[in-house]
Amino acid sequence: MNRHLPERVWLTGATSGIGLAVLEQLARQGVQVVATGRNHEVLEQLTSRFPEHVTALAGDLTDPGDVSRMAQSLAQMGPIDWAILNAGTCEYMDVREFDAEMVARVMDINVVGAARATQAVLPVLRETVRQGRRPILAYVSSSAWWFPFTRAEAYGASKAALTYFARSLRADLASEGIAVSLIEPGFVKTPLTDQNDFEMPFLITSGAAAEIMIRSLVRGRRQIHFPKRFTLSLKLLRLLPESLIDRMAAAISRNQASSGNK
Ligand SMILES: NC(=O)c1ccc[n+]([C@@H]2O[C@H](COP(=O)([O-])OP(=O)(O)OC[C@H]3O[C@@H](n4cnc5c(N)ncnc54)[C@H](OP(=O)(O)O)[C@@H]3O)[C@@H](O)[C@H]2O)c1
Repeated sequence: MNRHLPERVWLTGATSGIGLAVLEQLARQGVQVVATGRNHEVLEQLTSRFPEHVTALAGDLTDPGDVSRMAQSLAQMGPIDWAILNAGTCEYMDVREFDAEMVARVMDINVVGAARATQAVLPVLRETVRQGRRPILAYVSSSAWWFPFTRAEAYGASKAALTYFARSLRADLASEGIAVSLIEPGFVKTPLTDQNDFEMPFLITSGAAAEIMIRSLVRGRRQIHFPKRFTLSLKLLRLLPESLIDRMAAAISRNQASSGNK
């Protein structure tokens, strides 16, 4: 069980929201953070704020060329103790104008992007193991897919896919000494959720989310979900018969449509 802060972390989605809060907390505690995102300006600000602890590794995870350049840079940086693959996006569906290309966009960053990042970092994590360390590969999925939320066809499907991906990978990497942790947050206040036009129960700050994530990874937790009031309520709901869950989901959809959110 890993009970210490890591020496070096690769963090995707480091320029905003949850990732930014994780970066700030790790850098303040003296951890070396390799920060990835597309926003060069924010990455420059971060390296100026934390010159001794943050290294920028800019790139677009939907671009295989960018990711292969990132892989080469990562390979030259030395061991990585944690890879936190957090980059992601959310777009909502309007079923009256069903948009399969939107589904493809969301899948490309949330699922394939995470897979590309995995390919880039696995050789480095294997090298970390060879040096006698116990690396963690962490995926930021979501608890959103635990319930068939209205308009969440693309986002929920992408996070369900990412969760399956991570759990299957966990099985395959177990014998290599690379642990896979799965992080499934409820609602966290970030620029992503600031766009939501519906009530978000038990919304927490990105700072609180980052604190729970870091603490849980240090404790070696493999299944991380929070805030518990939200995620445990969802887990209870899942015990209901599926036909009842479907009726509740349809009622929520009708309510949102009649309140003008659709
Ligand atoms: N906020 C919530 O309530 C919540 C709940 C559950 C799960 N999550 C998950 O948590 C993660 C972070 O979400 P957030 O709320 O912090 O969102 P956010 O503030 O919008 O941040 C998203 C991050 O992902 C990066 N990113 C997006 N597309 C990218 C791409 N193509 N290539 C590289 N980086 C990319 C962005 O960086 P650039 O713009 O610089 O590229 C940004 O740093 C996501 O996976 C999200 O699904 C969030």
